[in-house]
Amino acid sequence: MQLQKVVPWGRSLDEYRGMFALSETDLRGRLLGCGDGPASFNAELTASGKSQRLVSVDPLYVFSGPEIASRVEQTYETIVSHVKLNHDRYVWTYFSDPDALGAARLNAMKIFLDDYEPGRAEGRYLVGALPNLPFNEGEFDLCLCSHLLFLYSAQLSADFHLASMLEMLRVAQEVRVFPLLDLDLQRSAHLDPVMAELRSANFSAEIVDVPYVFQKSGGQMLRVVRRSETTERDPQLAQISV
Ligand SMILES: C[S@@+](CC[C@H](N)C(=O)[O-])C[C@H]1O[C@@H](n2cnc3c(N)ncnc32)[C@H](O)[C@@H]1O
Repeated sequence: MQLQKVVPWGRSLDEYRGMFALSETDLRGRLLGCGDGPASFNAELTASGKSQRLVSVDPLYVFSGPEIASRVEQTYETIVSHVKLNHDRYVWTYFSDPDALGAARLNAMKIFLDDYEPGRAEGRYLVGALPNLPFNEGEFDLCLCSHLLFLYSAQLSADFHLASMLEMLRVAQEVRVFPLLDLDLQRSAHLDPVMAELRSANFSAEIVDVPYVFQKSGGQMLRVVRRSETTERDPQLAQISV
């Protein structure tokens, strides 16, 4: 992996809660974050003491904390300038403006970096990359994948998306992915074919409205569960599916 090719840009626990409509029950389970990068999700949730088990897996974790920090700092100006230029494509309710967004991302990274070395030693930050995860079948209750699949639809093939979904479903009972729009804010071209394949492989795949919206019309996640478990784990979520 070349660090220059990665855009490490991390979100907070509060954003993960919104993006994935996480309930207190979800947070108490065995959780896997796929492609968490410099998000503060793992650090903040670990500090809360809620989750039974929490692991983040990302190829980025082959690098040291200072290497990741310098890459985030290099990326910062490019991303914030891009968001400023495309201001109207985003919803400015969670963040008041692009500078507030940038500050929140740097803050998430700082929380992540403070936790990175202890977290590595505890096995909470593991090097790994979809579509092959270093875990046994069914080790996790819930796997979350934020801002990787579907967002990078132009860069990652349909086969990669399907193989990655099946791999996450091998190691977790349930998988949630956000967002479902690509970088051009279009519904991902891979979404419908992947959902059809998953349904034919006896998974329940549904699009669910969530409270977090940043890309315009982007407040939806994909939730996939083995068919028999859909309503058992969280009947409320099943009801708000669209
Ligand atoms: C835009 S960042 C999102 C970080 C975090 N999930 C969030 O939402 O704040 C995308 C992350 O995906 C990671 N990534 C890239 N290829 C990956 C792969 N094949 N498997 C797992 N993660 C990958 C990158 O290293 C990067 O940290």
